[in-house]
Amino acid sequence: MSYALNMLEPIQNIVNAISGVVAIRVNVERYMGLMNTTGEVFDSEEVIEKYGDAFNEKRENWESLTGDIEFENVTFKYPDGDETVLEDFNLKVPRGTMTAIVGETGAGKSTLVNLVCRFFEPTKGRVLLDGRDIKERSLSWLHSNLGYVLQTAHLFSGSIRENLKYGNPHATDEEILKVLENVAPGFAAKKLKKGLDTAVEEGGDNFSAGEKQLLSIARALLADPRILILDEATAAIDSVTEKTIQEAIKTAIKGRTSFVIAHRLSTIVNADLIILVNEGRIVESGSHAELMRKKGEYYKLYTRQYEAISVDM
Ligand SMILES: Nc1ncnc2c1ncn2[C@@H]1O[C@H](COP(=O)(O)OP(=O)(O)OP(=O)(O)O)[C@@H](O)[C@H]1O
Ligand SMILES: [Mg+2]
Repeated sequence: MSYALNMLEPIQNIVNAISGVVAIRVNVERYMGLMNTTGEVFDSEEVIEKYGDAFNEKRENWESLTGDIEFENVTFKYPDGDETVLEDFNLKVPRGTMTAIVGETGAGKSTLVNLVCRFFEPTKGRVLLDGRDIKERSLSWLHSNLGYVLQTAHLFSGSIRENLKYGNPHATDEEILKVLENVAPGFAAKKLKKGLDTAVEEGGDNFSAGEKQLLSIARALLADPRILILDEATAAIDSVTEKTIQEAIKTAIKGRTSFVIAHRLSTIVNADLIILVNEGRIVESGSHAELMRKKGEYYKLYTRQYEAISVDM
């Protein structure tokens, strides 16, 4: 019995080791899979030569951006999609102006701004920044000039400070609080019990949809970008928060070239240009007053939404 028991233990050890190896294999495969992913968008050799890459930014060569944006005959299809989302799209956005993009879900609004962020590249045609092809300068340069508030505001677990600093790692506490106060006066004092140390739960679950949006606007502004993109969340928010967010947007866009994708049209009545997109094409464009006078699609959309609000109340 004693000899037999002595044999049992080493066998047990061997079995454990084998199952350990199997587990490692799975992890190694996942790790290698992740590390081998290449992005679809990358800088060319010449661009890296001149502007540096993400690890070695040659900031001395970075030109400052004034913020003129142009879409030139842009045709676009998602790499894994089979439909052409944009076809021969043209649009000129002068520096410092606010362009609002409205349209039904799936119209191509987010796609348009994704191209400005160079998350994807046009299948045909060009996107120009200050008159130069967006590809001529590095991704790091572009992203240092760009603030993006995503349709799905993302907060990760950690403190408010960590969540906001993500927009600009060099920001000091005073700078963070100042931006926060500009975006949403009184918010920090009222809602952040422990100031910037206030904890954020995974996905920002301890904040409402509206608050998350305010925080992500603050995060985008911390980098003081030349171009600001706001993809408004569709989530329903109460009318007080809506008002606060509208004010926040008004502050945010001052002096920047901005794209605002709005689902609540009240947000964008002051835009310099409103474009109504449908199936990747501009159906109507102009200022709010012009489009209302025209009594076309935008007029219909606006009055319908207004009626819906009246019924709600
Ligand atoms: N990553 C992707 N891969 C493939 N197709 C996509 C991808 N993202 C969007 N699409 C497709 O492109 C079209 C336009 O999508 P887009 O996200 O630009 O719409 P949207 O106007 O922003 O809509 P919403 O108001 O719902 O945000 C849709 O038909 C969609 O199915
Ligand atoms: Mg969208």
